Amino acid sequence: LTLANCGLETSPAQSAELLKSEAPLPEAFKVPLPIPPVKMPLRTQAGIDYYRVVQQKASLEILPGLKTEILGYDGLLPGPTFDVRSGRTTVVEQVNHLDVPTAVHLHGGHTPAASDGWPLDLLMPNGEHHEHAGHGGMGGGDVATGSRKYTYPNTQRAATLWYHDHRMDYTAPQVYRGLFGLHLIRDAEEDALPLPGGDREIPLVLADRAFAADGSFLYPAATDGPGVEAKYMEGVIGDVMLVNGAPWPVLEVDAARYRFRILNASNARRFELALDSGPARFVQIGSDGGLLGAPVEHKTLVVAPAERFDVVVDFSAYQPGTEVTLLNKLDSGRAGQVMRFKVMRRAGDDSNVPAKLSSYAAVPEPSGLIHREWRFRRGSANGHQGWTINGKAFDPQKMQASVKLDQYEVWSFVTDVHHPVHIHLAPFQVLRRGGGKPGPYDAGWKDTVDIRPAEVVDVLVRFTAHKGKYLIHCHNLEHEDMAMMAAFETV
Ligand code: C2O
Ligand code: CU
Repeated sequence: LTLANCGLETSPAQSAELLKSEAPLPEAFKVPLPIPPVKMPLRTQAGIDYYRVVQQKASLEILPGLKTEILGYDGLLPGPTFDVRSGRTTVVEQVNHLDVPTAVHLHGGHTPAASDGWPLDLLMPNGEHHEHAGHGGMGGGDVATGSRKYTYPNTQRAATLWYHDHRMDYTAPQVYRGLFGLHLIRDAEEDALPLPGGDREIPLVLADRAFAADGSFLYPAATDGPGVEAKYMEGVIGDVMLVNGAPWPVLEVDAARYRFRILNASNARRFELALDSGPARFVQIGSDGGLLGAPVEHKTLVVAPAERFDVVVDFSAYQPGTEVTLLNKLDSGRAGQVMRFKVMRRAGDDSNVPAKLSSYAAVPEPSGLIHREWRFRRGSANGHQGWTINGKAFDPQKMQASVKLDQYEVWSFVTDVHHPVHIHLAPFQVLRRGGGKPGPYDAGWKDTVDIRPAEVVDVLVRFTAHKGKYLIHCHNLEHEDMAMMAAFETV
């Protein structure tokens, strides 16, 4: 990116905000919804589960009859799902068989800094010469070549996390090409609930993409010519909706309750999800950071990039044969459709959504806390044009805050336009939105919060256990790459 601090290679550059596919688009609701495979450990030793993931290119048939080259964890899009227990350590050896550096971040993870995917802690591909690997004057990343071990203590409650690339300046193009997957944490509190499970617990990883005529991903390129930068600025939005990697898929369901773990893995697209027919609602049971105290019912669900919503949808009132389409009300036409559920048959269902889901309770705001303001704005700084936080472009050498562990602080996010703001290491609770109460989608522990234009959102946050360098940034990935990120240290 021309606005980047220190790209390692030629700019992947910029282009229009809505990318229109050149490839013929398939008829909707024909492809069955795929479920990403669950990753199995290589071995278990002293209570630690060891995994190995190979980051590699693969050629997948995403659009029927065409091949799309992806960058995938184990060559998959999405990558394999980690399904782990709270408090049980996971060690993942990541092997880079790509031709670009990577950095893996566990989004929502309570992760030691050394494994958090600091954008300069690069994993270089094996066997290639990389002049800039050392990243001399750039803030000193811990660079590994070939493979690198990431340790996740999973010392946190059950929740839907995800992992994705976080390479400095190139997160957006690398996630777009496929480097993302789910990481689920389970615990006894959640196990004890009568929630829908087994094949009635389904991940829905939403991601928009655009495709060139030959089936390859369409993403802005430097060759797109002048004037494209301004549009790329807003983030890249495609016209094809993928769910778990399949375009506009269909899922056959029983007339029963289903639990859907929804992740918006799009670079920049927001969704307002709605069901097009019948009485079903989204009964939200969890947020980014795990179960709510009590369920919250939504007619529509606004999901910004990187947010997760754990919901139960009850199809029991639908006649077999009914088709229910999941819509995105923030768009129209094909881009306004996401996937379809086909109610197939009546079936027994002993699941339930209890009125009390967990011991979660909002922490009352203590008085006299340290208060920090983070202003997310378009701007130029340090010689870069793009997006800034508190007037600064991301500089990995400059800590914008030094935060004491184990103390609550109030952080305020102030924006110009829409920004989904994400903090690493610790979840937070939304205290106030626009001076008033939290919004309908703000319940529970969050790690990403959708800040609307010209809005101020106050959150209560407390970091624990791990000292080191962490990040706060906009999760519109093009904004992030255009330097809308800040480093802070926990001390
Ligand atoms: Cu999901 Cu720092 O990112
Ligand atoms: Cu942003």
